[in-house]
Amino acid sequence: CGISAYIGYREAYPIVINGLKRLEYRGYDSAGVMIYDGAQMQLSKTKGKVSDLELITDKDEKRKKGNIGIGHTRWATHGVPNDVNSHPHLSQSGDLVIIHNGIIENYDTIKKELISRGYTFKSDTDTEVLANLIEEVKKNEGCKLGKAVQLALTNVVGAYAIAVFDKTKPDEIVVARLGSPIAIGVGKDNKEFFVASDASPFVEYTKDAIYLEDEEMAIIKIGKGVKVRKINDDSRVDPIILKLQMSLDQIEKGGYDHFMLKEIHEQPKAITDTYRGRLLADKNMIKMSSIEDNLDRFLNANRIIIVACGTSWHAGLVAEYLFEDLARIPVEVEYASEFRYRNPIVTDKDVVIAISQSGETADTLAAIKLAKSKGAFVYGVCNVVGSSIARETHSGAYTHAGPEIGVASTKAFTTQITVLTLIALKLGQANKSLSDDVFKNYLDKMQLIPEQVEQLLKIDDHVKSIAAVYKDAKNCLYLGRGFNFPVALEGALKLKEISYIHAEGYPAAEMKHGPIALIDENMPIFVIATNRGHYEKVVSNIQEIKARSGKIIAIVTKGDTQVRDIADHVIEIPDTEEALTPLLTTIPFQLLSYHIAVMLGRNVDQPRNLAKSVTVE
Ligand code: G6P
Repeated sequence: CGISAYIGYREAYPIVINGLKRLEYRGYDSAGVMIYDGAQMQLSKTKGKVSDLELITDKDEKRKKGNIGIGHTRWATHGVPNDVNSHPHLSQSGDLVIIHNGIIENYDTIKKELISRGYTFKSDTDTEVLANLIEEVKKNEGCKLGKAVQLALTNVVGAYAIAVFDKTKPDEIVVARLGSPIAIGVGKDNKEFFVASDASPFVEYTKDAIYLEDEEMAIIKIGKGVKVRKINDDSRVDPIILKLQMSLDQIEKGGYDHFMLKEIHEQPKAITDTYRGRLLADKNMIKMSSIEDNLDRFLNANRIIIVACGTSWHAGLVAEYLFEDLARIPVEVEYASEFRYRNPIVTDKDVVIAISQSGETADTLAAIKLAKSKGAFVYGVCNVVGSSIARETHSGAYTHAGPEIGVASTKAFTTQITVLTLIALKLGQANKSLSDDVFKNYLDKMQLIPEQVEQLLKIDDHVKSIAAVYKDAKNCLYLGRGFNFPVALEGALKLKEISYIHAEGYPAAEMKHGPIALIDENMPIFVIATNRGHYEKVVSNIQEIKARSGKIIAIVTKGDTQVRDIADHVIEIPDTEEALTPLLTTIPFQLLSYHIAVMLGRNVDQPRNLAKSVTVE
């Protein structure tokens, strides 16, 4: 879910609404806003997107007038997405208004207690329970809003990021976080403040931001500033004001129809940015201080355990091939959600690598905490600077992909693989698994990747014409082997996510143990058949498909003739080392999914039911 709030001297509505649009990638089941005009709170909310909310507010200008506003876009957890369950929620008296990300796990017990004290509830949400709990505490203790929020939260089990406004004290907003991010934008001379789930809603107004840590709350007061406290023991915390690096054009579409397309096209630059200062081919070295400083831990590790979710998990699978092949270190890759609950055997001899674009995924964060509690050294690969995972890990590397807004991950994936390749090569050099010549050859080939991705992006029209042929398919199969098996999984995931076509990724040779039963003349099968990776074996797999009349779309290395003769369509990628091919083979799959989704009229950047950053388990 996304939070966007403003308190100050400007009209709050456009700031809050634009903020919500920028945060819509976090969830878009419903949207709502409260605007306070100095006397009345105007609450507008609806199921659907921020644009649906605007249809309501546009009917009545009164709903938009005022200098204080809090808004929310929701990814439903408790309660179906409908108008009543949308945020903000009011307390029973109507004085307090609250927005909330996360889950209150003991909401039912609290709700029963509040009902016994005479409270009634309009919605099914845990958030309304929290609003009334704060109200009840405030009334009982006779305290100010900040104190009431603090006391209420000490009774709560779960995860949250909240913002609360009290119309009887209209010069402040109280916010708190446990598990879900909160950024506070600080305006000049404390005359205005912004609150949001990330800094994107306020970059054009201020570059000064405070990020709350877990278990912290802040009282934000006009003219006074931001007071930060620990929720549990009430101790004061001196807030650190960070200077935002983010610029407005990074979070806008820049002439592209969709963020996803923009982000696909940004990959040459994103990979170059990931290399910067690290890949020093002319000096024949990879420089990564986070690895150098912890080299012994990596080299003496019993094994590396990689934890991640979604696309990041696929990057982890590629890393398994990379680390084992290039550095000869044993690797296990786990879904963070499974790892955290299966009582895994982890010791202080293990290195855990957590991969996350957002750095906020709840399951990955929990897996990190578990691994730390068992003494493992935990290394993060994140895109979002200063994110929870970046802070929770012992060390790590940023991917430097820049903000990724499209829900379907593209440049985050390729830059994760880039960082992981650099690490694998560095470790392989350090433990002499790689000879000097082989190491040097890899660096030279890596240097070429951004330009090769650039070339691949130029075949967009060709990929689009293939998309037009298969857009009405009901099922698709993606096959690859070795380094490209995870790319097949990722290709299938991309298609599922944004086109809603069922797709499965499989190791090419496993096809005969099941999916082959699905093959008929209507089944498109996307096969990665690059020249160095078990090429002959994949060609045999392609023959098996052909024999069953399946449609074959093959990704091959430039100049290939053998597969071209059998396949219905081929997409060529430039030649590189097999270990580096995932960075290239992924690109046509991204473009293919994009075009199919557009042709089917899907919402590419905000596919149904998904959210970019999943801060609930
Ligand atoms: C969500 C997103 C995916 C992403 C996954 C993990 O499901 O829709 O695109 O791969 O979360 O997110 P993370 O931020 O941890 O990489």
